[in-house]
Amino acid sequence: MFESQDLSHLSKPERYAELESAARGLLSGEPNRIANAANFAALVFHSLPDLNWAGFYIFDGTELVVGPFQGRPACVRIALDRGVCGAAASTLETQRVADVHAFPGHIACDAASRSEIVIPIVSGGALWGVFDIDAPIPDRFDEDDQRGLETLVRVFAGAL
Ligand code: SME
Repeated sequence: MFESQDLSHLSKPERYAELESAARGLLSGEPNRIANAANFAALVFHSLPDLNWAGFYIFDGTELVVGPFQGRPACVRIALDRGVCGAAASTLETQRVADVHAFPGHIACDAASRSEIVIPIVSGGALWGVFDIDAPIPDRFDEDDQRGLETLVRVFAGAL
């Protein structure tokens, strides 16, 4: 079983490399998507500092619907033309937002959120959903975080 490790002595890229191998271990051999999404969200949320929400919005063919996550209860449905999640889903590009208050249309699910990164998930050539991570401090995510999280999300997408 996965044990939370103290990764704080490692550099950020090293910490993400550890997380990547933990994610591969956690997902390997399990085909159930809900189980994998739940464990993936828990792994990320409990392994990285300064987060207040981490989880999935899954595309139902029309809009995004909240999936497995860690954090406070969140908005259930998000249209593709709304918020940071909608922007990631409709452009298929990672949205890294240093100050959510300055992002037009940002949806405040948890008033504590100050910065956010949302990574689109593509499976079989089509939008599957997004992975959304929120932080209670501004400018929480830098380029190393973006690279590390995009790699992690590719590991999850590979298990779909
Ligand atoms: N802030 C997001 C909504 C989802 S919550 O943060 C969990 C957005 O603007 O898309």
